[in-house]
Amino acid sequence: MLSRKIGIDLGTATVRIFVKGEGVVVNERSDHKRTLHELIGKANGRPRLFRPDVVVSVPSAVTSGERRAVTEAAISAGARQVWLIDEPLAAAMGAGLPIAEVRATAICELGAATTEIAIISRSGTVVEHSLAVGGNDLDRAIARRLSIDERAAEAVKIAVGSAVPLQEPLVTTVNGQEVSSNAVLEAIEAPLRMIAGAVRDVLRQTPAGLAADVRERGIVLSGGGAQLRGLDRYISVHAGIPATVAAEPQTSVVRGTGMALENFEVLKRNQSYIR
Ligand SMILES: Nc1ncnc2c1ncn2[C@@H]1O[C@H](COP(=O)(O)OP(=O)(O)O)[C@@H](O)[C@H]1O
Ligand SMILES: [Mg+2]
Repeated sequence: MLSRKIGIDLGTATVRIFVKGEGVVVNERSDHKRTLHELIGKANGRPRLFRPDVVVSVPSAVTSGERRAVTEAAISAGARQVWLIDEPLAAAMGAGLPIAEVRATAICELGAATTEIAIISRSGTVVEHSLAVGGNDLDRAIARRLSIDERAAEAVKIAVGSAVPLQEPLVTTVNGQEVSSNAVLEAIEAPLRMIAGAVRDVLRQTPAGLAADVRERGIVLSGGGAQLRGLDRYISVHAGIPATVAAEPQTSVVRGTGMALENFEVLKRNQSYIR
């Protein structure tokens, strides 16, 4: 392989990088000081004769100015070719959805700051919505309820959090107070309702035939937030469509950028391609 192929997921909480032939090679907390430049250099390894081809996933709500900035940063970091791909499409690919089919598929990518929902058909996004509610909002809701800081709240969410009542609630201790899954559920109900509501809204905006496909096939939940216990059941009930969690949901997007590197149809259809 003469030039490397690199896929980048610039997440709010975590940056992930996929290198073809090596898999996910960088998986670390986002740090504003780390530039795309440094990341591409790191992923590219020792100095090479040929510059890398790079795919970067961006949230679908990112403006064209921001898209240009990311593209230019990647070019100045040494990329030979740069393509951007919308995050939900990358997530759908990484989650193994048959995006090229005419029959529609649906993805809900739950990140730290946002939830991105998209209906996809023929390798393109038909309807999408980016909701400014993500895992951080669940942490904030738990923090408020328990009067603890957001870091501790995130730990509680991961330890015992559940989107549905548990027959045998899990219990953890923070600052000497016992917290059960059911207490967490009460705290996070409001943001969860907003997420389910957004899924319903997207379905309402979807052309009838494609919406019927999605009702039949269901929606796949991806992103770190998809790991919340019972979220699949919660979305199934409150959005009225079957929901399942992707395998390894936290790396769907970055693995999807890697798959997009091999899928010119997707790059071309979804892309401002810059050389
Ligand atoms: N087991 C878990 N249960 C619930 N939420 C989780 C779990 N693991 C991670 N998260 C949440 O996932 C979010 C990060 O997801 P990620 O997809 O990596 O975000 P981003 O792409 O925005 O950086 C955080 O809000 C984190 O608290
Ligand atoms: Mg993400």
